[in-house]
Amino acid sequence: MDRLPDDRTAHGAETERPVLAILTSHWLSIAGSALVTIAACTWFLLLVTKLGARESNPYVGILIFFAIPAIFFGGLALIPLGAFLARRRIAAGLAVEPNRRTTLRRLALFLSLMTLANLIIGSQVSYRAVAHMESNQFCGQSCHVMNPQFFAAGQSQHPNVDCVACHVIPGTAGFLAAKANGTHQMMKVVLDSYPKPLPPALSSGKLAPSAETCEVCHSRTAVSEPRLRILSKFQDDQANTAVKTVLMMKIGGGRAGGIHGAHMGPGVEIRYRASDAPRLVIPWIESRNVNGETKTWLAEGAKDPGGESVVMECADCHNRSGHAFETPEEAVDRAMAAGQIPAALPFAHKTAVQVLKAAYPSQQDALTNIPLAFAAFYRQSLPDISSARRADIERAGKALAELYRSNVFPDLGIKWGSYPDNNGHAGNAGCYRCHDGSHSTVGAGVKTAISQDCSICHQTLAVEEASPEILQTLGVAAGSPQP
Ligand code: HEC
Ligand code: HEC
Ligand code: HEC
Ligand code: HEC
Ligand code: HEC
Repeated sequence: MDRLPDDRTAHGAETERPVLAILTSHWLSIAGSALVTIAACTWFLLLVTKLGARESNPYVGILIFFAIPAIFFGGLALIPLGAFLARRRIAAGLAVEPNRRTTLRRLALFLSLMTLANLIIGSQVSYRAVAHMESNQFCGQSCHVMNPQFFAAGQSQHPNVDCVACHVIPGTAGFLAAKANGTHQMMKVVLDSYPKPLPPALSSGKLAPSAETCEVCHSRTAVSEPRLRILSKFQDDQANTAVKTVLMMKIGGGRAGGIHGAHMGPGVEIRYRASDAPRLVIPWIESRNVNGETKTWLAEGAKDPGGESVVMECADCHNRSGHAFETPEEAVDRAMAAGQIPAALPFAHKTAVQVLKAAYPSQQDALTNIPLAFAAFYRQSLPDISSARRADIERAGKALAELYRSNVFPDLGIKWGSYPDNNGHAGNAGCYRCHDGSHSTVGAGVKTAISQDCSICHQTLAVEEASPEILQTLGVAAGSPQP
């Protein structure tokens, strides 16, 4: 045997693998290589996540452009420095040239440590990737089909709550079910076989139960004091007269009765059967109140449609709490109250609603033509105003296009009114699906009806009044519209 396993002279290492020998000959070189590898990996992964990130965090920018490159080049500088020091120690007789075995052992150790380090970094990043799959951007923007819900979230009561908080049951099973469902939906998108518009989640029976979603954040039994609601609207006259509706909502809750208590109080259960998929027509209802009394109600002249009954929960009333699609009137009122459409522009309300309601073949066409149509009205009917208030008219036109953009999606079959709001009775039946006065008790005895008495739900303090007395009394009377 002319070469022992631990042959200390092994100059073969130097001739066969000079690069490896240099890299592993001094701890400074090893540390340098480690820094270079980790920096490169982190830099790459950060760049990838930053591309998909929700908002650009300035610190990520500093990391990507300064800190990590500094570590990378620092590490790069350490490698020759270590090699130089190792050479000097060997030359001074303080160390021997590493042989092939030592080189390979050091290399193996180095590679294992690096793999471990990069696995840790990688797992952190893939954790972020999963977190990204849970983000509103992923659900609402990477999937064009859900774009409308993403836009409509902005004008809802939950602009900052993640889609998954209402659509995915917490825990692993819920996560997997959601991903399986999502994959199924993605296939339909790829094959372009999804319904347009997408059916409301309640109608497809896909909505996660509120106990796992809403009630993680809101308590079912919390008691709310009556709440004053002031609804601002503008009329269709020349002056766009501002009017207010003032309601005192009797929300209640728990054993305190009121709106929440009557349907969600302890022991209370209301079940119903609808005769249509979106649950807008409800002929049959069964109720159990706080005292345990049960009643069955049937709409006048209707038959029990049969089939599964559903237990009433939060989303039966708050169906648009996640994404509120507006009516053209609501959208224009909101923009006028916010001053985006100047309320002093004559006939602005009437014209704006008309322009929004017109039919446009595509969203792109609407975005171009809405501002033009709005301006055209003033040019043709009120030329003086048209030239004197050009800037206001342009600003209003742009705001109108935005209102259209966040509510109507012709290519996805979403028109004004495709997704009605059930929490009221103004646009569609809403509460009146049951509280229409025609649902009465079944069986022997005196027939009673589910009440339609206005004051069980709200005290009606003013309806579309220009200057409601109640607001004077409360010291919050409306001012004049902004110029
Ligand atoms: C606060 C709770 C909540 C949040 C947050 C929420 N949703 Fe919903 N979502 C609902 C409810 C409730 C329904 C059922 C509406 C119905 O059946 O009338 C629904 C229905 C849907 C539907 C079916 C179509 C429709 O409009 O009815 C889609 C698609 C949808 N949501 C996507 C999303 C996306 C994407 C996000 C995130 C940008 C999101 N949701 C965030 C509560 C929420
Ligand atoms: C992740 C927590 C979370 C989830 C899930 C959630 N909400 Fe909310 N919700 C909030 C927060 C926070 C607010 C804002 C409270 C505020 O502004 O005072 C809010 C506001 C509301 C409001 C408006 C309250 C007001 O003052 O007008 C309603 C109604 C509501 N949520 C109902 C629901 C319903 C129904 C669901 C389920 C479909 C739900 N929430 C799911 C956290 C949540
Ligand atoms: C029968 C219909 C109905 C059901 C069911 C219902 N709500 Fe409400 N909720 C209302 C109405 C109506 C209001 C008052 C809205 C307003 O002020 O304009 C309200 C108000 C609220 C508010 C605001 C409370 C406050 O103090 O300002 C929250 C939060 C809320 N609901 C959450 C829920 C949650 C969570 C559930 C399910 C556990 C639920 N609601 C079930 C009809 C309902
Ligand atoms: C699925 C049917 C259904 C819907 C939808 C519904 N309710 Fe009810 N509601 C009932 C039933 C059933 C009762 C119990 C009536 C009884 O026992 O006399 C009730 C009772 C009430 C009560 C108590 C009445 C009293 O005499 O004290 C209030 C308040 C109320 N509902 C408000 C609302 C509001 C507000 C909405 C809409 C946001 C709504 N309800 C939607 C079925 C419904
Ligand atoms: C079963 C409950 C219930 C009954 C009964 C009821 N309302 Fe309402 N009403 C509501 C709810 C909920 C809203 C929505 C409040 C909001 O937008 O926050 C509402 C809204 C309104 C509005 C404002 C509509 C708008 O958007 O401008 C008016 C006006 C109104 N109700 C009048 C009445 C009158 C008059 C009666 C009696 C004939 C009545 N309501 C009966 C629950 C009820």
